[in-house]
Amino acid sequence: MLKGKRILLIVAGGIAAYKCLELIRRLRDEGVRVRAILTEAGAQFVTPLSLASLTGDKVYTDLFSLTDENEMGHIRLSREADLVVVAPATADLLAKMAAGLSNDLATTALMATDKPVLVAPSMNARMWSHPATQRNLAQLDADGILRIDPAHGGLACGEEGVGRMAEAAQIRDAIANYFASSERLKGVRALVTSGPTFEAIDPIRYIANRSSGKQGHAIADACARLGAEVTLITGPTSEPDPHGVAVLHIESAAEMIAACDRSLPVDMAFCAAAVCDWGVAETRPNKIKKVDGGEPPAIKLIPNPDILAHIVDAGNRRPRLVVGFAAETDSVIDNAKAKLARKNCDWIVANDVSGGTMGGTDNRVHLVTQSGVEDWPRLDKREVARRLVNRAASVLAEQAQ
Ligand code: CTP
Repeated sequence: MLKGKRILLIVAGGIAAYKCLELIRRLRDEGVRVRAILTEAGAQFVTPLSLASLTGDKVYTDLFSLTDENEMGHIRLSREADLVVVAPATADLLAKMAAGLSNDLATTALMATDKPVLVAPSMNARMWSHPATQRNLAQLDADGILRIDPAHGGLACGEEGVGRMAEAAQIRDAIANYFASSERLKGVRALVTSGPTFEAIDPIRYIANRSSGKQGHAIADACARLGAEVTLITGPTSEPDPHGVAVLHIESAAEMIAACDRSLPVDMAFCAAAVCDWGVAETRPNKIKKVDGGEPPAIKLIPNPDILAHIVDAGNRRPRLVVGFAAETDSVIDNAKAKLARKNCDWIVANDVSGGTMGGTDNRVHLVTQSGVEDWPRLDKREVARRLVNRAASVLAEQAQ
């Protein structure tokens, strides 16, 4: 499965660098072409000669070496790979990646690459749990960097804790998993709606809801990671645009339905947006002034179009799988079942939003389909997204058979 793949391996300065030798050997045994960049600190732990012998290729070390630039510039080096693997990824290198620094060959290649990056961190346990490292990891997550977390165990410094780099065999498996999953939804087009909508009252004020867009954005991200071509149509949120996703930013339900309509046909649609049920009948062009002692203005609301229903009713443009969401505060399952029937979609992902779910990082959902109800445990919204999208991928694959 790995045969013919090309990996750019970046070896930074950590004691775990010795494990990358075993990793290269395993990958080469499976027919992978490995090119290595060795940082200056990395060269304190393994020699260019050992890397060159194992990769069977030149080892790249210096950003400003004219010979290297002539033979293989850092841009080409980073592009002529299917995956970039950083092992070991030190706290320092992770910080540079999170900040976007590029002051040596490794960091410049990481900035220049258009390929996915998998990091295998390795460091002292306190460095791992330090708020700065955790902040950097969160940033790298948001940037779409893949990671194989360090394990708990005895560390080279004599302490014990989390920080020990994954073993070569585990990194090899993570690489194999990446290649297997990155093509699962190849050729599949996905549409995802996310976030709230804003219904303008006047140029200053609007009606909205508490949706953070976390769940919808995580779904778009999960689709892209499986190789789908994704369009995310989102209301205003503070979530960053997911990596590798075409994002259309809209405000109102009217803008969202127009953008969705333009994006059809697609193979699957996830309507995770919390669309305002009502818009403002007449948005005032100028700020409504509060005249002292005057009556508060009466705002007339009108129903917004149902975007999910529009997608379901799109005739021959109807996606093969349409997933709706049901944010409920009571009778969650009964309401979700009724919504599945009423909206005529394929699945409803129901959740109880009476607690802190809206805006929170976790979600406890119930997947309601024609075949019944599945209660999922409380999970991080990204994990909910991964499971949901994997399930959708299986359904599409079954339909294709
Ligand atoms: N939805 C939509 N367009 C709307 C309203 C809802 O596309 N104007 C979609 C949501 O994205 C979600 C599903 O419909 O996937 C259910 O939304 P929800 O707000 O839970 O249900 P409503 O249809 O608004 O019904 P109610 O408010 O009575 O629960």
